[in-house]
Amino acid sequence: MSDTSHGKNATFTLTDNRDGKAYELPVMDASVGPSVIDVRKLYAETDCFTYDPGFTSTGSCESKITYIDGDAGILLYRGIPIQDLAEHSDFMEVCYLLLYGELPTGQQKGKFEKDITYHTMLHEQIANFFRGFRRDAHPMAVMCGVVGALSAFYHDSTDINDPHHRMIASYRLIAKMPTIAAWAYKYALGQPFIYPRNELSFAENFLHMMYATPCEEYKVSPVLSRAMDRILTLHADHEQNASTSTVRLAGSSGANPFACISAGIASLWGPAHGGANEAVLTMLGEIGHKDNINEYIKKAKDKDDPFRLMGFGHRVYKNMDPRANVMRDSCHEVLEELGIKDEPLLDLAMELERIALEDEYFVSRKLFPNVDFYSGIIFKAMGIPTSMFTVLFAVARTVGWVAQWNEMVEDPSQKIGRPRQLYTGYTERPYVPIDKR
Ligand code: CMC
Repeated sequence: MSDTSHGKNATFTLTDNRDGKAYELPVMDASVGPSVIDVRKLYAETDCFTYDPGFTSTGSCESKITYIDGDAGILLYRGIPIQDLAEHSDFMEVCYLLLYGELPTGQQKGKFEKDITYHTMLHEQIANFFRGFRRDAHPMAVMCGVVGALSAFYHDSTDINDPHHRMIASYRLIAKMPTIAAWAYKYALGQPFIYPRNELSFAENFLHMMYATPCEEYKVSPVLSRAMDRILTLHADHEQNASTSTVRLAGSSGANPFACISAGIASLWGPAHGGANEAVLTMLGEIGHKDNINEYIKKAKDKDDPFRLMGFGHRVYKNMDPRANVMRDSCHEVLEELGIKDEPLLDLAMELERIALEDEYFVSRKLFPNVDFYSGIIFKAMGIPTSMFTVLFAVARTVGWVAQWNEMVEDPSQKIGRPRQLYTGYTERPYVPIDKR
């Protein structure tokens, strides 16, 4: 393949060495970042598919929401650097930005917050639905089930062709996710469900529903709610990662948004994706002491050992994950504010990071800490149990999923997602009756 021209009307020439035929493939330019080769007509013209398991070289859609430059360690939501949003903005503003493309005016923000708050309560029958789960169920299993079941409760917002339905479903998902997450936690504890309170901010409300009980008021610490708000912002969207692509693929068939987000939650749960924050803490617990770090680094480098350094490496970032930098600073702030002088896990994590970043194996593969490396330590300091870590990721990512789902539904070029395959199984053969096998 060769790039034959640049700029407008650029094409790639693809030569088929089997018959010497050449094909001109259009190149589509990005506003920033790599261009893409448009292969949509490739199969019709060449009778060949492209082959890219894991989509390492494949753009699956056009999007205006989030941009990542993995080499430079840059993450932009609608063009705005994540560091600026983490420092100056708040999660509700970020939600508005992701959904609508612009930062809200004061009036727009006020109305948006009010509208989201209006949807935080769950249909009362959902409390009974929770009670069908085992108390020891993993909260991510409960999340998949309850969010999927929302379409059974909110029939009036499942028509994806109606923009008003789409908007209400989007608001419901963003607003109800913290309530569902907190109730999953309460159910595991055997404590009564705590209802949302409209005077609280999004992050405060979540902490209130997690920690209040009917017998005692819970005073939300401003430090913790600020830290929670920042964590939500950092996790809000990350372009076409596994769970977002799952949401888009599920939605491409016309499935309702509650079903699509439930599919996204299922994908997020895996340890290579959102499940990594839980896995980091488990790993740090296993390492136990700085003296054991080298042994675990050795395991991570051993190709015969399935162990990987959790919270390290990323498909896109080949530089420091900018979210991890903010998270590390936030981690120090939270521990200081909480008066935690010595947090052995933080010391261990920092030493592990230092040793890994000096190790040729990690350096040559450009493996840096990702967002999950430090988030677990903050969650732990906040008193959030390990099994809830990925749930928090899901609460934050819901707005990203919803924004991407809306963008897909509104895209006139949208088609059902239907990848093809390289078939290497049997060619046609006769059926053999059971007594002849
Ligand atoms: N520990 C040890 N080796 C690693 C690690 C790791 N964490 N990550 C990648 N490698 C090695 C891998 O073995 C391979 O080596 P080689 O070239 O010798 O075969 C090389 O680095 C490239 O790795 P890959 O698996 O081809 O890369 P990928 O893009 O398919 O995987 C990843 C990306 C995030 C799944 C992987 O880095 C990983 O498993 N990390 C640990 C899990 C984790 O922290 N996940 C959270 C990701 S960030 C939050 C999110 O988006 O959900």
